[in-house]
Amino acid sequence: MVIYMCGIVGYTGSNEAAPILLDGLETLAYRGYDSAGIAVFDGSEIVMRKEKGQLSVLEELLAKEPVTGSCGIGHTRWATHGEPSYINSHPHGDSKKQLVLVHNGIIENYVKLKRMLIEKGCVFVSDTDTEVVAQLLGDIYDGDPIAAIVRAMQFIEGSFALAILFRDDPERLYCVAKDSPMVVGFGKDGAHIASDIPAMLAYTRDVTFMGEKQIAVLSPDGIAFYDKHGMPIDKGSTHITWDLDAAKKGSYEHFMMKEICEEPVAFRKTADQYVSFRNRRLKADSFPWGESDAHDLKRIRIIGCGTAYHAGMLGKRYFSELAKIPAEIEIASEFRYSGYTFEEGEALIVISQSGETADTIAALRMAKEAGVRTIAVCNVVGSTIAREADEVLFTYAGPEIAVAATKSYLTQAVVLFLTAMRLGEIRGTVSAERAAELIDKLSDIPDRMQKLLDDRGEIQFFASREFNAKHVFFIGRGIDSALSMEAALKLKEVSYIHSEAYPAGELKHGTIALIEEGVLVVGIITQHALAAKTASNLEEVRVRGAKVLALTNGNQGDLESHCSKVWHLPETDDLLVPFLAIIPMQLFAYYMAVQKGCSVDKPRNLAKSVTVE
Ligand code: F6R
Repeated sequence: MVIYMCGIVGYTGSNEAAPILLDGLETLAYRGYDSAGIAVFDGSEIVMRKEKGQLSVLEELLAKEPVTGSCGIGHTRWATHGEPSYINSHPHGDSKKQLVLVHNGIIENYVKLKRMLIEKGCVFVSDTDTEVVAQLLGDIYDGDPIAAIVRAMQFIEGSFALAILFRDDPERLYCVAKDSPMVVGFGKDGAHIASDIPAMLAYTRDVTFMGEKQIAVLSPDGIAFYDKHGMPIDKGSTHITWDLDAAKKGSYEHFMMKEICEEPVAFRKTADQYVSFRNRRLKADSFPWGESDAHDLKRIRIIGCGTAYHAGMLGKRYFSELAKIPAEIEIASEFRYSGYTFEEGEALIVISQSGETADTIAALRMAKEAGVRTIAVCNVVGSTIAREADEVLFTYAGPEIAVAATKSYLTQAVVLFLTAMRLGEIRGTVSAERAAELIDKLSDIPDRMQKLLDDRGEIQFFASREFNAKHVFFIGRGIDSALSMEAALKLKEVSYIHSEAYPAGELKHGTIALIEEGVLVVGIITQHALAAKTASNLEEVRVRGAKVLALTNGNQGDLESHCSKVWHLPETDDLLVPFLAIIPMQLFAYYMAVQKGCSVDKPRNLAKSVTVE
């Protein structure tokens, strides 16, 4: 099976299409980078250029063989199965050469459809499910694009965002989406399609999110919308206030470093939405639960994938500790098939930076079907999760382009922390004095983050000596265990170094067998009550030959004598320390990857938005 999480762009207007399409694809390259292609109507024909490899390969091809024309579509692809190849690259067309299209998503019944279409005489040239849609549309098409799209949707099972160029309607683009993100927008020089907002931000700030099976027809003069039956509908637009520079690398070598350096601002911006620092109070109206319903809450179930899941691990601790509410955390892809039956009084919090992660969306829908209250912690306005959840606690991280999540984790964590605090306030488990104390300490966090960023040279130096490490283990207890999970994920995904996280006490139940001379073990020791225990675990690995690095705060005992290196964090409350502790871990992963010459912003095999399960 071939599955995709790709980036789509489209443009029709008064300018040359190719440069606009390439510009958009460059912004979307985080969604996939196995191959790229464009198709442009040149006045008499639809001309296609596509190539296996990163976008630069397509750019080189276009420099040699340019295409002119002001209406076109483009695609950057990520495939997990089936070779990335010229043949499988998008755009794809039909045998009768009536149309070409680009696709993001997965057509689940493509084998059955392909068989049917072959019997009808279609000749397939690729292994993709996308070509099945192109052939199906070509088979149905009789001069009415909207009717053909409506009819084709009745056959297709699965998820799709499609941008289509019909040969006999060369100034217009057609697009349609189901369970796959897509936005359209109209700027001063024409109309645009993209999988994600940043790709069109240079041309327009007023964007419309495509709803389930809705169709948009883009022409140089405007955009018309239709429902899944082909009936005209009105759709409003959302004004995007992000700064375009936020989606550009500027003077930074990598987006990952830029985004780590943005953490103090992202953290402050997010916290400001939920806290009045001047009044030392939470903004009660910013939270889903109020005086009337917080007491009825029996349990919180938190769902996410990857880094968002790790932020949820912190959330679980915050809800238990601050609000004394039982909280469970589960990985979305496991939860959706767990057959879980929700209980009365339970609420579901889904965490997602993109708001488009397929498994997280599925978990959200399960809860909604069960009548459970759903709350999203999400960074992208208008995303599927933001639209479908009952309530949204937005993070204000701005666009996150590097595949490795950094600033989104911190902003998710602070939103969860503040929500737990608000519940604790209402339920009487956090006193007014404690709340004010935490808010004061929270307001110091961005400056302390900045200090860590300013001192990053030490981490860079350490990485320059350790980047040949083959295995790195991260250990910690409680909150530090949750931090270890994220630290290990960051390191492995950008530097390809095998890294694992363990609750420190668990090590000697098996994993310690892997410790031998020179293996690097990172101990995260920030929780005063547990510090001595993790320090002992570090000593256990040190005497077995491990090289030991500790990340710690305040006075946590004589770590210097056990460890090859100790990194000190600025002092803060134990509950707030994750907001600081993760930064050196992200920097460590970054510098290790840079030293190894890895593709930091686009690690192999990964894509930013995991829109398929
Ligand atoms: C890791 C990373 C992924 C994402 C995960 C969820 O650095 O970025 O693990 O955290 O794919 O993505 P969202 O938050 O968009 O649902």
